[in-house]
Amino acid sequence: MPNFGDWQLTTYLAGLTGEKPALPMSYADLERRAEATMPPEIWSYVAGGAGDEHTQRANVRAFERWGLMPRMLAGAAERDLSVDLFGRRLPTPLMLAPVGVIALCDPGGHGDLVTARAAASTGVPMVASTLMQDPLEEVAAALGDTPGWFQLYPPNDRELMESFVRRAEAGGFSAIVVTLDTLTLGWRPRDLTIASFPQLKGLCLANYFTDPVFRAKLAKPPEDDVQAATGLWSALFGNPRLSWDDIAWLRSITTLPLLLKGICHPDDARRAVDVGVDGIYCSNHGGRQANGGLPALDCLPDVIAAAGGLPVVFDSGVRSGAEVVKALALGARAVGVGRPYAYGLAIGGQAGIEHVLRCLLAEADLIMAIDGYPTIASLTPDALRRLD
Ligand SMILES: Cc1cc2nc3c(=O)[nH]c(=O)nc-3n(C[C@H](O)[C@H](O)[C@H](O)COP(=O)(O)O)c2cc1C
Repeated sequence: MPNFGDWQLTTYLAGLTGEKPALPMSYADLERRAEATMPPEIWSYVAGGAGDEHTQRANVRAFERWGLMPRMLAGAAERDLSVDLFGRRLPTPLMLAPVGVIALCDPGGHGDLVTARAAASTGVPMVASTLMQDPLEEVAAALGDTPGWFQLYPPNDRELMESFVRRAEAGGFSAIVVTLDTLTLGWRPRDLTIASFPQLKGLCLANYFTDPVFRAKLAKPPEDDVQAATGLWSALFGNPRLSWDDIAWLRSITTLPLLLKGICHPDDARRAVDVGVDGIYCSNHGGRQANGGLPALDCLPDVIAAAGGLPVVFDSGVRSGAEVVKALALGARAVGVGRPYAYGLAIGGQAGIEHVLRCLLAEADLIMAIDGYPTIASLTPDALRRLD
């Protein structure tokens, strides 16, 4: 089986005939190109974070405090980056993290579908946000054989919550990820400065507007009165009173694997285990929600220890293959890619997402080759040294 890193050779060989890659090979270039391409209000929404974005930057910098210890002659000629997750063997440890408004990163406005197609072509699962421009059923259908997980923003209405869960089940999503760090919207100065919040324009609300429970609450269908429908969305979205009892209830209504996203404290991980979830998603939403927090990576080891063997998915700050390797070595079962694939989509559509994933995998694979770690199982915390 070819190694992911072999792909770099095709670039060098093409270079012999003067061909240069059309898409950026470094994260810095990716970000620059995306900023130049995206409409300013979408760039602000995606690139921006909470407060002065300290936590967002800290997420990325936290990786610099870990170094991988190289091992020589360790038999890493072939690398196996596949992982087991909820009974499926996945070809890579990457996941496409849920990005509400990913639709708008696509110049054609259908980024959920484009992302699903990229998931289908790469085998990298998509965690599809509640906030979609196309209904979840259509997004699920575009995933092909690649698993999709439905990310649930739990509305403050159980009937609607259950309707979303049932639709995700019927659509073929294979897990539910409940995001707990966005029960109220964070303070985002970039978006506030330009007074722009896409959902209030009725964008990316297809899952609500097509939902029978949601529609039954409206005097007129959303097609006829978008403003009223958006107002209802706004009233139902925030759910600051959500409790562990609600999670227990969610657990009781579905047999799909259930994960909680936004878990950073080990006690919350333990509580999640007690309530019967199947996985923990350690993340601080890429620093978009509460500024002044710890880098998510610094929370990961304790969350894994508290998860009692349940798989822990990690995201927040992953920008390169080296970071993927470090998160795996700390014990993450899978690693979520967020902003980088949104930028890939903005500059190159489906091919742009595939390119971003290919770069991450090639670099991770080559690091494992050079540093002597042939499998993900061989990547343990012992492979890392803390640099403080
Ligand atoms: C523009 C944008 C929208 C997001 N929307 C969602 C969402 O709808 N649901 C969710 O659980 N997380 C959402 N997230 C958080 C991501 O799932 C992930 O936690 C975050 O992007 C990781 O940080 P990073 O992109 O800096 O690596 C969003 C992130 C971004 C950048």
